[in-house]
Amino acid sequence: MKVKSLRALALVASLACLASAAAHADAFDAHITIRADRPGAVINPNIYGQFVEHLGRGVYEGIWVGPDSPIPNTRGIRNDVVAALRKIRIPLVRWPGGCFAETYHWRDAIGPREKRPRGVNTAWGDETESNHFGTHEFMDFIEQVGAQPFISVNVASGTPAEAQAWMQYLTGPASSGAGQERARNGRTEPWKIPFIGIGNETWGCGGNMTAEFYSDVYRQYVSVLKPYGSMIASDANSDDYAWTETFLTRALFRHPPETSTTLAYISKQRQIDMISVHFYTFSGNDWGKKSPAVGFDELDWVRSMERTWKTDAMIAGHSAILDRHDPKGQVGISFSEWGAWWATDKNRPSNLYQANTLRDAVIAGLTLNIFQNHAARVKMANLAQMVNVLQALILTDKEKMLLTPTYHVFDLYQGHQGATLLPTEVEAPEYSFEGVKVPALSVSASRAAGGEVTLSLVNLDPVRDAKIDIDVQGRVVRAAKGRMMTAASMDARPEFDRPDPLQPSAARSVSVRRGVVSLVAPAKSVTVLQLH
Ligand code: AHR
Repeated sequence: MKVKSLRALALVASLACLASAAAHADAFDAHITIRADRPGAVINPNIYGQFVEHLGRGVYEGIWVGPDSPIPNTRGIRNDVVAALRKIRIPLVRWPGGCFAETYHWRDAIGPREKRPRGVNTAWGDETESNHFGTHEFMDFIEQVGAQPFISVNVASGTPAEAQAWMQYLTGPASSGAGQERARNGRTEPWKIPFIGIGNETWGCGGNMTAEFYSDVYRQYVSVLKPYGSMIASDANSDDYAWTETFLTRALFRHPPETSTTLAYISKQRQIDMISVHFYTFSGNDWGKKSPAVGFDELDWVRSMERTWKTDAMIAGHSAILDRHDPKGQVGISFSEWGAWWATDKNRPSNLYQANTLRDAVIAGLTLNIFQNHAARVKMANLAQMVNVLQALILTDKEKMLLTPTYHVFDLYQGHQGATLLPTEVEAPEYSFEGVKVPALSVSASRAAGGEVTLSLVNLDPVRDAKIDIDVQGRVVRAAKGRMMTAASMDARPEFDRPDPLQPSAARSVSVRRGVVSLVAPAKSVTVLQLH
């Protein structure tokens, strides 16, 4: 009975979604110019990176099922999830957290699994942490996917010595003591750790620090971790520009300005490879009043788009500070946590699990376009989180797996990976609803080494199609084709054991005449074209 009434409620909510989106349907016109004559920075493949934390079923079930599981696996790691990630060329995975990383002691999760101590995940609901997925299992997973590891070390409850010992264990030659211990645990050859995160949200769960205090803590960690990989600083909270300003002033170089005369040479050694930013989308700006993941209305939709667009201004704000401190552009931005965070569903199967709809796809397309368009500074990003948590790429239900609308966007955007950004000029109206206004169209273009131009277009307007003309300056276009995703309702979503309503299909009404490309980007859609 309860199930039935819940279904009825869901049906009413879906109809509301459909009704508001189908109210009126005049298309709007838009014009895009792609400046192939003014190529920009290379789009770093790492901006399509992922984030995995010990939280809900993000690791356990989502990745790790154990070697004895009936779910097909390789050394305990799910084969279906690995295959799906390989297909979209996931370049990078950040682990073990998040706030969890700030409680994590890596030694608890090495050696024979049956002997590892059980812990309590105090960061996330006091759930039991078996420690069965530790350093070796994560690195095995990384190698199976063909990705790079980004390890976030514990700053809040750990020490520089603990972090240094972890790096020695991971990367030390087999002849070293740490390497011998690693070999006894099954791995002779050292691993490479290209990216090391020095703490997570150190303004909050990662130590509750001020920017001044964190700068000094960072300096201490870097002094022992620098030999092992690129140094990624803990994030500024969203648009906390004061944090970035203070941190760069105090920590960019090996010694702060006041001591630089005595140690002039080493003082100038740069010790930050990337600063980070964390920012989540919900509808509006109030963490306490989030939109539901499904059954939302158009006001929730437009507010979610408005909040996602803030990513653009936020990157510009942090970049402007970087430009002053680092005019040569050597320090990148790692957008280490991004994605949609919807209201808690009481019936969710695990912590921070949420449904993933067409709205998530539009948010993903818009966010990736923004990252790409800031390719000169944004060198890495991590979707929160890869499997079963928040805006996931993949959802699982025991042996079942589904690919979310967000996954399809990452798939469609593959042509941008490692390509050269081409600036775009967009003439399009705003989409406005109940006084909230946002640009209706988000666009990003790039050229691959072989010459193919990829253009990603997101129509944020949930009601009106966009009739778009595109001209490319500095290049003659003869052919265009592409794929797109949309659906009738704003909260259309895939469900286990049902056909996927958001499976990408051929882009709509694409033609090329005298070098001008035309197409229709349907209301609430993500389209990616390849131009030849
Ligand atoms: O992604 C979930 C949590 O969000 C992370 O653990 C934390 O860093 C952020 O607040």
